Amino acid sequence: MAEELYIPTGDKKEQYESLLPQIASLLQGEEDRVANMANIAAALKQTFNFFWVGFYTVKENMLVLAPFQGPIACTRIRYGKGVCGTAWKEKQTILVPDVEDFPGHIACNSASRSEIVIPIIENDCVTAVLDIDSDTLNSFDQTDAYYLEKIARLLTA
Ligand code: SME
Repeated sequence: MAEELYIPTGDKKEQYESLLPQIASLLQGEEDRVANMANIAAALKQTFNFFWVGFYTVKENMLVLAPFQGPIACTRIRYGKGVCGTAWKEKQTILVPDVEDFPGHIACNSASRSEIVIPIIENDCVTAVLDIDSDTLNSFDQTDAYYLEKIARLLTA
């Protein structure tokens, strides 16, 4: 049963600290991956009003578009391609302060300026990525990486 999200205020760290237990409780008792991805994307959008926030799921050796909030996006990304495919290949979070400086960045939307991608790892395999785009430069830092990795881990709990 969905409750209403209490929209966190304060600085970014305080917002994430308040959001984390709320997302944990939203996911509790629900095992459907798509449903949980949908609510995580919505909770992040409601809290931070990110330009684009969503998931790509690994299917048949491609990343395929999964639940998201924001403008329409590319549906398939190959292993090692773009920021998402690179996070998949390297199995680590990638922070991109300026997408124009990232070789091979895939511009699903020309308004995107900075980006962060968090791989979701299960049994040492990347099964999905959480991708967030901003329409301003330098939007993401280690605080985002730290908390978004925790949020991504909730999906696999
Ligand atoms: N920019 C991403 C593609 C996905 S969209 O941003 C939603 C990339 O380079 O992998």
